[in-house]
Amino acid sequence: MWVNDKLVARLRELGTPVRRSVSLAEQTSLGIGGTTDEILLQCHETIPQVMHLLAGEAIPHKFLGSGTNVLVADGELSFVVLHRPGTGSGTRVEGNAAYVDAAADLGGTVTFCAKHDLGGMEGLIGVPGSVGGALRMNAGAYGAQIGPHVREVELYRAASGQIETLRGSDIRFDYRYTSFAPDDVMLGVKLELPSKPYRDILAGIKVCNEKRRASQPLSQKSAGCIFKNPPGGSAGLMIDELGLKSHRVGDAMVSDRHANFFVNSGHASCADMLGLIDDVRERVRAAYGIELENEVIIWRN
Ligand code: EPU
Repeated sequence: MWVNDKLVARLRELGTPVRRSVSLAEQTSLGIGGTTDEILLQCHETIPQVMHLLAGEAIPHKFLGSGTNVLVADGELSFVVLHRPGTGSGTRVEGNAAYVDAAADLGGTVTFCAKHDLGGMEGLIGVPGSVGGALRMNAGAYGAQIGPHVREVELYRAASGQIETLRGSDIRFDYRYTSFAPDDVMLGVKLELPSKPYRDILAGIKVCNEKRRASQPLSQKSAGCIFKNPPGGSAGLMIDELGLKSHRVGDAMVSDRHANFFVNSGHASCADMLGLIDDVRERVRAAYGIELENEVIIWRN
């Protein structure tokens, strides 16, 4: 999907540059995805105007965070992507509250808060991605989830066309589920975290890092776990029990370390990965009578 030159010029006037023909394979942790134009939302105050312009031209769009939990279609994409660049260097702490830009790296945020003696998020240390992505899917690991710490979220709501602030208590956070609308764009969050000495937080972080290194294929291209765990069960355990580690479709392969991680072992296409997802889901359904739900978000063309 290509943004026309007139629109590129109008977006530039709003301080919103457009990168032409970007490969999403280079912007996603799976290393899979076709090409499209990318609109860089450098200044979040202008997002409503940017969205208004896109709506006026009927340009389909999707918001890309750090690209660590998304499987993108191959080829020329039928939508443009919006992306907020930035490192979230503006994170600040006041008492037990941390104010964090949604574009900030999640692991970096856990460490930053730890340095201010604020803990509770140790388990999230190795979860790849941005704070905004973690918020959207209520990321969790090793007993920690982001949801319980959320006090306020600033976001762009497509439904109202405005930037709004939601109270944490008005958002539902469940296992890998939130009540945000699919087209909400996370901008910032206020977290409330328990006080804890830095050295104790570091000790907790070390334990989580060791567990993760021992069980997950961290050096390979993946989107983390492909499926959500079914209630009371483990998708990884079931797939492993079926002997499917290293099972592949093209270059998409079930990890030989953790069976709920599907890795791009070379030049996997989206079609390869979708084929593997469907095949494994079907085998689990046949053997266990359980229909696994995707955790990875799929952007079809
Ligand atoms: N197991 C196997 N074989 C495997 C994988 C797992 O036998 O190939 C067994 C493990 O030995 C363990 C059980 O299955 O007894 C559960 O495994 P694990 O502790 O790795 O946890 P998980 O349920 O597979 C979840 C999250 C991970 C998170 C870990 C640690 C989901 C879908 N996954 O994995 O999150 O890092 O717990 O808390 O909830 C993610 O969401 O992308 C993710 C990586």
